[in-house]
Amino acid sequence: MAEEVSNKQVVLKNYVSGYPKESDMQIVTSSIKLHIPPDTQNAVLVKNLYLSCDPYMRGRMAENGAASYLSSFQPGEPLSGYGAVKILDSTHPNYKKGDLAWGFTGWEEYTLQVSPQLLIRIEQTDLPLSYYTGILGMTGLTAYAGFYEVCSPKKGEYVYVSAASGAVGQLVGQLAKLFGCYVVGSAGSKEKVDLLKNKFGFDEAFNYKEEPDLDAALKRYFPEGVDIYFENVGGKMLDAVLPNMRIRGRIAVCGMISQYNLDKPEGVHNLPNIIWKRLRLEGFIVSDSYHLYPKYLETVIPYIKQGKIVYVEDVAEGLESGPASLIGLFTGRNIGKQLVVVSRE
Ligand SMILES: NC(=O)c1ccc[n+]([C@@H]2O[C@H](COP(=O)([O-])OP(=O)(O)OC[C@H]3O[C@@H](n4cnc5c(N)ncnc54)[C@H](OP(=O)(O)O)[C@@H]3O)[C@@H](O)[C@H]2O)c1
Repeated sequence: MAEEVSNKQVVLKNYVSGYPKESDMQIVTSSIKLHIPPDTQNAVLVKNLYLSCDPYMRGRMAENGAASYLSSFQPGEPLSGYGAVKILDSTHPNYKKGDLAWGFTGWEEYTLQVSPQLLIRIEQTDLPLSYYTGILGMTGLTAYAGFYEVCSPKKGEYVYVSAASGAVGQLVGQLAKLFGCYVVGSAGSKEKVDLLKNKFGFDEAFNYKEEPDLDAALKRYFPEGVDIYFENVGGKMLDAVLPNMRIRGRIAVCGMISQYNLDKPEGVHNLPNIIWKRLRLEGFIVSDSYHLYPKYLETVIPYIKQGKIVYVEDVAEGLESGPASLIGLFTGRNIGKQLVVVSRE
């Protein structure tokens, strides 16, 4: 008989409206057998090592998860999201004990996954495993697919990135610089602005919280206008960017984090610029781009190894830090990619 062990979990207490709070979640301890039950085929039992905190998870905390593009979390159940995991037991032909993988898993110490279609085996293990929650995982692919496929960049173009020091933004800026663009980023603190300029190599950066007039700030950094706007924020920022776009500019709509906690989304007033400037605004979701993942790894891994791309992580220790880390995304507490260490091995 398989031994039962305790299994700490981060559970949603109640559906959330408005800004999420730590008290919307709680840590509970249940138990789990570390072997797959007999007759359960195509299953893996995983030990969760690193969990990714992602803004889209806010949509899943709402009762009407349809407002996001994924189903809602269930109150009383552990949250789920992206993570890096170790396979402890497998009846799935693609995985064996000891393999590492990244993809969807539970916010708990151990997860039994039946039909784990949403896991990708990790072959490259000479880089930090935590990178599979960020630069080598979903967020990295988001930056790559968004920049190359949606922005249609040309060398020398003027690129603006909002939430630029975050998990996606820091990479978009570095990819754009390597491609030969002029890149400006905005972020919400002096420390983040310093990172953008001094660590990630952005040409310029500004603290949007200290700019009473976003339009004037954009005119200062882009006197000739913006060719590409990588949109992570929405709301007032999008409104300010629209009149500053150049003719035939592109706006890759990756996210609108400023809107996720509002009961009523803010309006955008400057939409006629889309016509006058012949703009293309295109939303995208990373899950449509998984076919690019092998090509992305071939591109990004040499850049990381040569030191041409760096990646800043905000590492929180222990599942107990999960709720505070997740809600911190919505106040800008995180500096770089926010992740939670459940176990290092
Ligand atoms: N389309 C896709 O498939 C896809 C995939 C991944 C992520 N995304 C989106 O990409 C965006 C960035 O995600 P990420 O994982 O890289 O997160 P992140 O940038 O690492 O963290 C979120 C950051 O957003 C900023 N922020 C929070 N509230 C804000 C507000 N009201 N106004 C302006 N900025 C605010 C904060 O930075 P500051 O201190 O700079 O304010 C915060 O640190 C999000 O909108 C997310 O939903 C989309």
